[in-house]
Amino acid sequence: MPIPFIAGLLWNGLPPWFPDPFLLLKIGTGIGAITLTKLYTSGATNTSERKMHGRVVLITGGTSGIGAQAAYELAARGAQVILLTRLPPSDPFLVEYVDDLRERTQNQMVYAEQVDLASLHSIRKFATKWIDNAPPRRLDMIILCADVLTPPGGRRLVTPEGSGVESTWMVNFLANFHLLGILSPAIRAQPFDRDVRVIIPTCSSYIGSPPLTEALGKEGWSPGKAYARSKLAMLVFGQAFQKHLDAYKRPDGLPNNARVVFADPGWTRTPGMRRWLTRGSLWGLVLYLMLYFWVWLLLKSPNMGVQSILFAALEGGLALDAGGKLIKECREVDFARRDVKDEDVAKQLWESSDKLIEKVEKEAALQRARMKQEREEREKQAKEAEKAQEIDSLVQAIKKGKEKEKEKEGKKPRNRKKAKTDEKKAS
Ligand SMILES: NC(=O)c1ccc[n+]([C@@H]2O[C@H](COP(=O)([O-])OP(=O)(O)OC[C@H]3O[C@@H](n4cnc5c(N)ncnc54)[C@H](OP(=O)(O)O)[C@@H]3O)[C@@H](O)[C@H]2O)c1
Repeated sequence: MPIPFIAGLLWNGLPPWFPDPFLLLKIGTGIGAITLTKLYTSGATNTSERKMHGRVVLITGGTSGIGAQAAYELAARGAQVILLTRLPPSDPFLVEYVDDLRERTQNQMVYAEQVDLASLHSIRKFATKWIDNAPPRRLDMIILCADVLTPPGGRRLVTPEGSGVESTWMVNFLANFHLLGILSPAIRAQPFDRDVRVIIPTCSSYIGSPPLTEALGKEGWSPGKAYARSKLAMLVFGQAFQKHLDAYKRPDGLPNNARVVFADPGWTRTPGMRRWLTRGSLWGLVLYLMLYFWVWLLLKSPNMGVQSILFAALEGGLALDAGGKLIKECREVDFARRDVKDEDVAKQLWESSDKLIEKVEKEAALQRARMKQEREEREKQAKEAEKAQEIDSLVQAIKKGKEKEKEKEGKKPRNRKKAKTDEKKAS
């Protein structure tokens, strides 16, 4: 069959129904270019693996985008995954989400714990409960995926605790600083043969951040600057945290076994990225949907975005070297700024963050005490009002009872007289 067809082509040329070869060439080139671009923008795929069964992983931001994909991948490999979420575990959305994750990964060891990263108190409540456990709880990995990214043109927001902290700084940096600071004893208490990792997703936006030594006040604030600065702060703090872990003298005299690893997922189609691209507006969303082909072509899927984080979690070699490495496209790369490893900048950042946390926690404690007092006062007043009402209704009831009795007594003599006259009439 193909031989006569080829012979026909050679003798008679292309049959009339055959499409224009130039058109085919154009279509082929177009499809080839799209395929190559997509392959390039999708980035590298992780090929490292290690046993995750029984390992305990704490993950923030595990309900959306790259974090959700990381939670899925690790749960599918058998890890015990604890999602640290803004919502309480009883929230119907979260209950459904956890159930779905358990079902899809065939792993029942997926849990949620409430940790609102916009609240220092919420972080302290969770982390102190974790470290109060005796003997120390198993902890193999902490993945810090949660973040906030205000869309361009968005307002500068402040957290409600005490005098407040700028939201991007709070969720993207200070919350992680606070969480790791309190969990540090739990990380250091892990047995020597345990490969412990703290994975910090980062973003190339840190390159354009103003230096950390320059305060970012209300005037110079912009969503982009705030985000980039929080990412730079995480890099600087992560390096300092690695040094803090390395400096610890273990009771068994063995070296530190915990590694901080930074992972840059690359530009990825996540809810956070969508909010940023659409500026959080309906018109933006319409435009986003209209241009979705380009979004699809140029941005990674969450499944590809998570690959560098998986490499940071699963590559065995990372446990053998020093910590503080940056992973991009599943391989180690250099930092693009020198101040990431500047010890003076790190010291200043650490000290100022400690001071800020102390100040806000004190203010928040006073705020809570005041609110508690006001609530108790309100409850007391409500109880007193209730009691007064009870007494009032009792008094009213007694009054009514007495009035009825009086009425009865008033009627009785008249009845007796009537009875006597009736008797007389009868006789
Ligand atoms: N997407 C990208 O293109 C890209 C590029 C480079 C780096 N990264 C990094 O990758 C990580 C994940 O990014 P993503 O785009 O996947 O994020 P995302 O879709 O915006 O998800 C953010 C997550 O953070 C959680 N979160 C926000 N505020 C919180 C709070 N106060 N308390 C607790 N959780 C809170 C959210 O929880 P709710 O679901 O409750 O809102 C959500 O799970 C981030 O560190 C980001 O910087 C992303």
